[in-house]
Amino acid sequence: MSKRQKILDKVTVIDHPVVARDLSILRDKTTGTAEFRAAMGRIATILAYFALKDLPLRKSTIQTPITETEGYEIDTEIIIVPILRAGLSLVDAIIDFIPDAKVGHLGMYRDEETHRPVDYYSNLPKGVKKGLVLVVDPMLATGGSADDAIGFMKKQGANNIRFISLIAAPEGLERISKKYPEVKMISAAVDEQLNQDAFIVPGLGDAGDRYFSTT
Ligand code: PRP
Repeated sequence: MSKRQKILDKVTVIDHPVVARDLSILRDKTTGTAEFRAAMGRIATILAYFALKDLPLRKSTIQTPITETEGYEIDTEIIIVPILRAGLSLVDAIIDFIPDAKVGHLGMYRDEETHRPVDYYSNLPKGVKKGLVLVVDPMLATGGSADDAIGFMKKQGANNIRFISLIAAPEGLERISKKYPEVKMISAAVDEQLNQDAFIVPGLGDAGDRYFSTT
């Protein structure tokens, strides 16, 4: 089995025509802010759908206008944890899907010279120990930010963590799967590699800058 295939086995990669079309919109450097945001939102909804496919349910009894019948409620609290800033781009669409999800924030940016994450903020809701924690960041490059974020959440007692990204590099996936084999990873794409500046190739550039229009 090739090295790439071994890495691909560790991650759920979304195979969907709408994702393929929207990824192309996001990768295209001529795409403007409004279109970029819309495509990001559509993909985030699909990512959430696949990331939450096996959510536990508890049975309930409901009354239709005609009769009493069996219904279902989601049997876990869901806590979305975006890695600031770019992770925010995935939050609204996931909330559309799970409107009562809690949101915790982790602030970190990648030092442009060392490529290592720098922590600057955290604010988490209660419930991370029992709930399902979705750490979200569109870009998984070296994996330094995700590694830090997952490590931080584990220190807070989280033991059911999933990591959702839009584009992942094999290097980042390998790092996270080795260090946290229990963390399920879901991504819309796995790209070729990192370049010498630790940018994902082909990638889409800097997701945070493009989403927030700060270039
Ligand atoms: C980017 C991206 C990830 C990180 C990925 O953030 O959104 O958080 O880099 O790189 P890594 O896997 O090598 O850690 P950036 O530093 O551009 O900050 P931003 O989200 O504020 O734009």
